[in-house]
Amino acid sequence: MDAAILNGRELMQRIEADLRREAERFATVRDRRATLVLVAVGDDPTALLYAEQVRRSCARTGVECQLQRFPGDIDETALRLRVAALGARSDAEGVVLLLPLPAHIRQRMVTEVLPPEKDVDGLGPRNAGHLMLGFPSFVPSTAAAALELLRDAGIALQGQNAVVVGRSNVGGKPAALLFLRENATVTFCHSRTPDLASVTRQADIIFTSVGRAHSLTAEMVRPGAVVLDAGMNAVDGHLVGDVDYESVRAVAGALTPVPGGLGPLTPLMLIRHTLLGPD
Ligand SMILES: NC(=O)c1ccc[n+]([C@@H]2O[C@H](COP(=O)([O-])OP(=O)(O)OC[C@H]3O[C@@H](n4cnc5c(N)ncnc54)[C@H](OP(=O)(O)O)[C@@H]3O)[C@@H](O)[C@H]2O)c1
Repeated sequence: MDAAILNGRELMQRIEADLRREAERFATVRDRRATLVLVAVGDDPTALLYAEQVRRSCARTGVECQLQRFPGDIDETALRLRVAALGARSDAEGVVLLLPLPAHIRQRMVTEVLPPEKDVDGLGPRNAGHLMLGFPSFVPSTAAAALELLRDAGIALQGQNAVVVGRSNVGGKPAALLFLRENATVTFCHSRTPDLASVTRQADIIFTSVGRAHSLTAEMVRPGAVVLDAGMNAVDGHLVGDVDYESVRAVAGALTPVPGGLGPLTPLMLIRHTLLGPD
């Protein structure tokens, strides 16, 4: 039997309707629109494409989106000062540093100057630390989107065996910590995990954020498992995830497509955080 497809686009429309109401409420009470500032350094196409996706989601929900661009050769100290100044603005509720950054900029040196209450993508040390400690925090948007899709599908994490493939600070790590917070039993896998398939086959829920097309195949999935694919890989001009979609679809119980799974929801997580604060 084919897996249930966890449709992010359909859920996106319902969340957008809720966020539109929240944005209206904000504008009525504060006499201005809630504001999300995106910081782009250089002209990386992935970062700018994501900025455009966020801008469109903001336009649909009634949140002001401001793209602040800096030249790719800006030095780290200057960028820190500029980002700190954006974080100090009383007329902006959220500031997001778009990735990837140019090689000479250390991400942590920039995210650490953002006030935690404006760090709506949760990439700074305070939010990441709070997530690790199990306190309320802004959770990075892809992990937050995964939880949102599971909740909407009525799939509880409690007591489930969750395997997270990839341990990046934007993908695997926050997803694993979030699943742990939801009382799943969590296993991390990465490039040094021997016999990955023997681990993933134990999973009730698999979250993959690796960046390798077709790397999660049907033999790696227990029949009926839920598979969440955060991968975004360009193959022959098309966007595909980490999951070998057609083969896994025949085995899994539920599966996120790429595109159309987690991707459409990630900007909405930023907008929700901008309007409503931490989870
Ligand atoms: N949908 C979204 O919003 C979103 C957000 C973030 C990322 N992504 C996508 O997710 C993918 C991964 O990006 P990322 O930033 O999370 O990760 P990343 O920083 O590119 O790191 C990749 C992770 O995968 C692990 N890995 C590499 N080869 C592996 C293998 N053969 N077996 C098991 N693990 C392996 C690495 O292990 P080591 O740590 O041992 O090197 C690392 O932890 C990309 O396609 C990216 O575009 C999507």
